[in-house]
Amino acid sequence: MKSLPLQLRFLVPLVLVLAAAAWLAVPVMDRLTLRWFARDLNLRGALVANSMSESVAQAVQDANLRRLQALFGRTVQDERLVAMGWCAPDGRMAVRTLLMPPSLDCEEAARVAAEPEPRLRIEGGPVHLSMHPVQAEAGPTGHLVLLHDLSFIDRRSQDTRRWLVALVTGLGVLMALVTMVVAQLSWRGWIRGTRALLRGEGLLRPMAPPSPELEPIATELRERLRDLDDQLRRSRVHEGGWDAPRLQALLRSQLRGDEVIVVSNREPYIHDRDARGEVVVRRPASGLVTAVEPVMRACSGTWIAHGSGSADRDTVDRHDRVALPPGQSEYRLRRLWLTPQQEQGYYYGFANEGLWPLCHVAHVRPVFRESDWEAYKAVNQLFADAVVAEARSDDPVVLVQDYHFALLPAMVRRRLPRATILTFWHIPWPNPESFGICPWTQELLEGMLGSTIMGFHTPGHCKNFLETVDRNLEARIEHEHSSVSFRGEQTLVEAYPISIAWPTAAEQGGWASPADCRRALGAQLGIPAHHRIAVGVDRFDYTKGILERLHAVERLLEKHPQWQGRFTFVQVAAPTRGELEEYQAFQQRIHAVAERINQRFSTGGHAPVRLLAQHHGPEAVQRLYRAADACVVTSLHDGMNLVCKEFVAARDDEQGVLVLSRYAGAARELAEALVVNPYHVEEVADALHRALTMPAAEQRERMAALRSAVQEYNVYRWAGHMLTDAARWRLRERVSQRLRRHSDARAA
Ligand code: F6P
Repeated sequence: MKSLPLQLRFLVPLVLVLAAAAWLAVPVMDRLTLRWFARDLNLRGALVANSMSESVAQAVQDANLRRLQALFGRTVQDERLVAMGWCAPDGRMAVRTLLMPPSLDCEEAARVAAEPEPRLRIEGGPVHLSMHPVQAEAGPTGHLVLLHDLSFIDRRSQDTRRWLVALVTGLGVLMALVTMVVAQLSWRGWIRGTRALLRGEGLLRPMAPPSPELEPIATELRERLRDLDDQLRRSRVHEGGWDAPRLQALLRSQLRGDEVIVVSNREPYIHDRDARGEVVVRRPASGLVTAVEPVMRACSGTWIAHGSGSADRDTVDRHDRVALPPGQSEYRLRRLWLTPQQEQGYYYGFANEGLWPLCHVAHVRPVFRESDWEAYKAVNQLFADAVVAEARSDDPVVLVQDYHFALLPAMVRRRLPRATILTFWHIPWPNPESFGICPWTQELLEGMLGSTIMGFHTPGHCKNFLETVDRNLEARIEHEHSSVSFRGEQTLVEAYPISIAWPTAAEQGGWASPADCRRALGAQLGIPAHHRIAVGVDRFDYTKGILERLHAVERLLEKHPQWQGRFTFVQVAAPTRGELEEYQAFQQRIHAVAERINQRFSTGGHAPVRLLAQHHGPEAVQRLYRAADACVVTSLHDGMNLVCKEFVAARDDEQGVLVLSRYAGAARELAEALVVNPYHVEEVADALHRALTMPAAEQRERMAALRSAVQEYNVYRWAGHMLTDAARWRLRERVSQRLRRHSDARAA
């Protein structure tokens, strides 16, 4: 049986059972038909007897038995009548035809005739016996004994048996085949449908709608996936380490190697022409670039950004693409070119004079101009078109970066409805009242809700965003699932704290020792060896709290005069947005304040504040971190701030103190820093003093804890969580779409 194919294993027993049933039914049928025939033959016999009564009575009256014999002889020529006899009134069978068995006398004939099945077996086969009185005018004149042929009944019975068995067998086979085909189709449908539901594969391909019985399973699965999703997000605290290979594996397994497209305003490498006309490559001072570049190296794919360098056009191919990082070609950059008017309106105007101060609430008034808004819309469309042009499939994973592209998600969604769009907002999101100042609040929100996932640094920013949506759009917010339903589409709103790539062992092995870094910095800036050094590394931006920080340094020197002549504060301020008046005024003010402090507290030709308002590459910044006794990050408001994480990562000697603003997103993760209110000058001055006097053991304890947090909460984890959520979201969407198609098909 094992060697039989599955279908036969089912078919053979079924046919056998049906054939046996047919075989058993035949005798019952035989008996029934025999009774019907017996009744018929009795009637027939009575008819024959009646019709012959007169002739028989006459022959008997004439005592002419010879005539009677001849009459009987003619009558039995009927093929069904085998023999005939006449029982005289004295009980003798006085006349009998040839085939009447000699042993059969009238007494025996009467006994057989009285049986329910009056049968006899004679030489020629089975016969039916019937006995009928002969009625003459003078009264009863003996009995006629008739033997009717029954062999035809046997023949018919055998024929019936054959046909019945054949019919039942045929029917059985037919039923079995129909059952098997239905079962096979149904089973395969179940298996295929359930697998597809579980894997989410093939669900978007045009397929026949699932059988109705799958619908409850699909609904259940969808709900279950959602619950799992929520559980997973809640349980992420204790997961294992993330690194580039794990992120790559995630892309391969959960997103099936789908292409990744990054969109940002700032490009990861800028080609500039220096004073001698040589092309130089520069890494921009940008938290966004610091975070996204390692992710892009892990994922490959395409990065679309504004080509803002003076030699950018000279270094791209004819499709405006360049392979990066220089010399390693791990991904490609597609540069887009903006006219000066576009750059002015979209970047300087709407993004940096409007949205930047709006979201940071750093007490700088946002400016909103209609012309900037028009430029912002046009540039968002330009970048959206580039995403569509660069996409090699209709469902790429698009990582949209930052406040420069609030409208782009919906624009891409219109052209690539199946794309998975993850938008990450690198700056804070203020409360609804503050954001509502923007005249185009609704349009911005609608654009952002084209995203599959809207990511922010902190749960607080997510909450503010959801409240802003609630106040401004007809959208349904599911707080339980942290999602927004708007115009039939859902967007997951989630916190993904951004971070840096933890330096590899090889990278750490190449670092100069902190003591060497300290000596080199001293030599470079003329800082005496006995000075304590604190550093600040920022873009030259009013949100970074540089002014308040300088005030705190000044207060430190006032309050703790022992630091005069023993302390230097080095502030790297990378030039940024210098075209804007607000920035120009701010930068001038910082220069003036630094100058004033230096005039007040310089000793022996050594100024306590060194303001380095130039671009510094990552290596230079890294040496600065290693040379410092303290790093001061006192942003007035910051989405996350990666400088503090870079400082921690650079201190493999577990020395150095971090002074950190409570208004930087990073403060949530880096509790072992000296957390301060950046507006409170006194508090920051005290924190500086504490940092400069902190025992080495306490520094080690704090730094070890900070390092373990940054190492674990690294940028691969940031990207990994977003992409994992995206993959699960994609799966759930497939199930929903399939159900929708199914309902549509049924409604039609
Ligand atoms: O913080 C927001 C942000 O876009 C960051 O992502 C980035 O570090 C910085 O601003 C860069 O600003 P810009 O590109 O205007 O120089």
